[in-house]
Amino acid sequence: MPRKRIDLFASLAGVLVLAGGLAVHAQTAEQAWLRYDGSHSRIFVPLKVRALGAGTLEKSGVQELQRSLPSISGVGMTARARSTFGGETIIGTVEEVHKAYPELPVPADLEPEGYWIYWSGATGDQTLIVAGADQVGILYGVFALLRLPARGEAFNLHDYPLREHPDLPIRWVDEWDNPDGTIERGYAGRSIFFEGGNVREDLAAVREYARLLASVGINGCNINNVNADPQLIDSGHLKQIARIADAMRPWGVRLALSVALASPQKIGGLTTYDPADPAVKAWWTAKVNEIYSLIPDFAGFTVKADSEGQPGPASFGRTPADAANTLAAALAPHGGVVLYRAFVYNHHLDWRDPKADRARAAFDIFQPLDGAFAPNVVVQTKEGPIDFQAQEPISPIFTGLRQTSQAMEIQVTQEYTGQQRHLVYLAPMWKWVLDFDLRAGNRSTPVKEIIAGKAFHRPLGGMVAVAGVGRDGWLGSPLALVNLYAFGRLAWNPDLTAEQIAAEWTRQSISNEPAVVSTVTKMLMQSWPAYVNYTGPLGMQTLTDITGSHYGPNIESSEGNGWGQWHRADHLGVGMDRSVKTGTGYVGQYPPELARVYESLATCPDNLLLFFHHVPYTYKLHSGQSVIQYIYDSHYEGAAQAAQLVDEWASIRGRIDSTLYEDVRARLEYQAGHAIVWRDAIVQYFLKLSGIPDVHGRAGRYPGRMEAEDARLTGYKVIDVTPWEDASGGRAVSCIPSANQQSCSAEWTFTGAAGRYDIFAQYFDLQGGAAKLELQLNDQPVDSWTADAALPSSRPNGDNSTRHTVRGIELKPGNLLRVKGTPDKDDPAALDYIEIVPSAPHWSKSTPPW
Ligand code: GCU
Repeated sequence: MPRKRIDLFASLAGVLVLAGGLAVHAQTAEQAWLRYDGSHSRIFVPLKVRALGAGTLEKSGVQELQRSLPSISGVGMTARARSTFGGETIIGTVEEVHKAYPELPVPADLEPEGYWIYWSGATGDQTLIVAGADQVGILYGVFALLRLPARGEAFNLHDYPLREHPDLPIRWVDEWDNPDGTIERGYAGRSIFFEGGNVREDLAAVREYARLLASVGINGCNINNVNADPQLIDSGHLKQIARIADAMRPWGVRLALSVALASPQKIGGLTTYDPADPAVKAWWTAKVNEIYSLIPDFAGFTVKADSEGQPGPASFGRTPADAANTLAAALAPHGGVVLYRAFVYNHHLDWRDPKADRARAAFDIFQPLDGAFAPNVVVQTKEGPIDFQAQEPISPIFTGLRQTSQAMEIQVTQEYTGQQRHLVYLAPMWKWVLDFDLRAGNRSTPVKEIIAGKAFHRPLGGMVAVAGVGRDGWLGSPLALVNLYAFGRLAWNPDLTAEQIAAEWTRQSISNEPAVVSTVTKMLMQSWPAYVNYTGPLGMQTLTDITGSHYGPNIESSEGNGWGQWHRADHLGVGMDRSVKTGTGYVGQYPPELARVYESLATCPDNLLLFFHHVPYTYKLHSGQSVIQYIYDSHYEGAAQAAQLVDEWASIRGRIDSTLYEDVRARLEYQAGHAIVWRDAIVQYFLKLSGIPDVHGRAGRYPGRMEAEDARLTGYKVIDVTPWEDASGGRAVSCIPSANQQSCSAEWTFTGAAGRYDIFAQYFDLQGGAAKLELQLNDQPVDSWTADAALPSSRPNGDNSTRHTVRGIELKPGNLLRVKGTPDKDDPAALDYIEIVPSAPHWSKSTPPW
């Protein structure tokens, strides 16, 4: 074999480093990471592509190579050089490759869905082989080949063929889409699947989405809300849904559905939905047969039952295993699975009962059923015991089920983590969970091995992400796409690091220029710790409005109700006692080694302390700080980290696409402002509750801040904001226009020293109108803006409190500053304060840093 020539690939990888990183291309979030614009390319792959077989997925593989290779392969080489290298890229299953090239060392033992990529000279010319264990393996191999340049390593595919297979068999996204086109907890516009009660006519976006999913190895897509509309599985809708399955099939993405357990009664006309009732069983069998007649590769059902008002087996004295097994029996002959969610809990808990604890629910309900589930049932559990909080411990049920296959459910859609308006790269959190060693049976049992089925020798296992993609750039924000990418990559290989994935995604999505890759990777890696700092440190969860938006701060919303997301903050202390000795006993659900660590204050890690223990504010952490001081410090640090993201992004201006640059810059500015809303809400709340001052003197003191309620007001009325902590000092002003006055104003006299200042106006951008605001200096307009962002809530609060920044204004003592607010429809141009701080030397109005 002519090894010399084959090594060429490795050497080309070294020399074809392109100048493309600086090239500016039109980028759209819609194209996500499959841009193939050549800017990140430094590989040579023969442009002539041939499939050995005729399978649908093989065709997709050829198509993908043909559409991408001309722009990425050998970019920078002359056409002549390219044709000199010539050669052929050949794709096929291992059997096909072996038959066509018996002399090649094709592995005979490739694991399901795996691939093998190899450079060969066997045909007398350069030949690149992509062999799949099966059809979908070929496709994954093709995408892996196209991803190689983004991995930032050199490959010698002759001596070291690339061989990979997925660690987890089930790698699904769940879309919580409703037939009317809305998406539960979706932050990116309307459904790509449904509109007006039916499947959309145009499924082009679905085809593109399936392609994106396949590119990172995702093999299933559940298309509807776990709070399932039973009508979706009536015969009429199933025929429509089959079109969605057809659209995804060429990319190896199998369709799954969420089903309501009450369906036999709701749409089947039966008098019951008792899963043990023979008529109910027969109904499900017939329904499943009908589904497979339309969708032969149907993946299975996801079930939410006895949870948050959804009907379930408990109504008939049956268990989740009874319900799951009824569905599983219907699916088994077709190879389908049931993903039964362990998110089952009573949301009418008694908050006065110190033993009541929502965190216990999954283990209490599911652990006694271990071994009772049919082999094609997978219990699907959120990573933490509560609900996708900014930070939680790992659900102990992962070790409670040792004779049951399990999947872990995570969220790509950022329900509790900033709803895509905040940059929060979640892979570091997922990695922490995946690598976490729960020490079941006093041996090493990391979560990734449990959900791969390895730790307890289970036949199935997986990872499912609630994705929430919509028509607005898939996830609404370009950088949020990194979470979808990271989910796919980790479900394929949980051993990848969060940094590696961030860099890989950046090279494909933004630029391969080293300065850009390192800056964006750094920003991504900082973002989750920053978010935890300003929203819910020490295991307090996300201190948000848990009965409403799940977005802005609302600390007491967790308390005094049955939802059980309690943090139990009072004037003496904070935290939920979940110890065995004095608390709810939740800690006892962990295997003994870990339970010992969490049970004792001496060993409980600081970052989860308040999840497990109730302590006084003066309690000293391992770090030596008191709890209250940590609460203050972490919020100031978190807000500063958010501000730093803006500066870091500014440092790559001019090196990346300008539209993308400006889009993300505006989002990061907003985030930095909202991090201050969070900081101030939590800090002033705990300052008031505890009565303990901040040793650094920051809490409750805002130099340069001038409250709207203290201003000279014309037309504006002072209002109390609810919750009080969401406004500076608890109050704001709101404009109610009258017949003779369409605008209101708040006016202050500047009393500081003469100099150059930045002015921050904090206002409430309410739904239902686009109020106008104007900043005036000595009666002259300085800046004006419109409050037209799409933020939650129609009342002024932390969901919509927004900061507008005006930089580099020269002020002298005695100057008059005025904010004029012009309401629009339901938006009363409400204003909280203005804050005046000396400009940093490098900022000026005419030369903003971006
Ligand atoms: C959260 C979320 C709900 C969702 C539920 C679930 O509570 O807010 O919208 O239905 O999780 O996972 O079932």
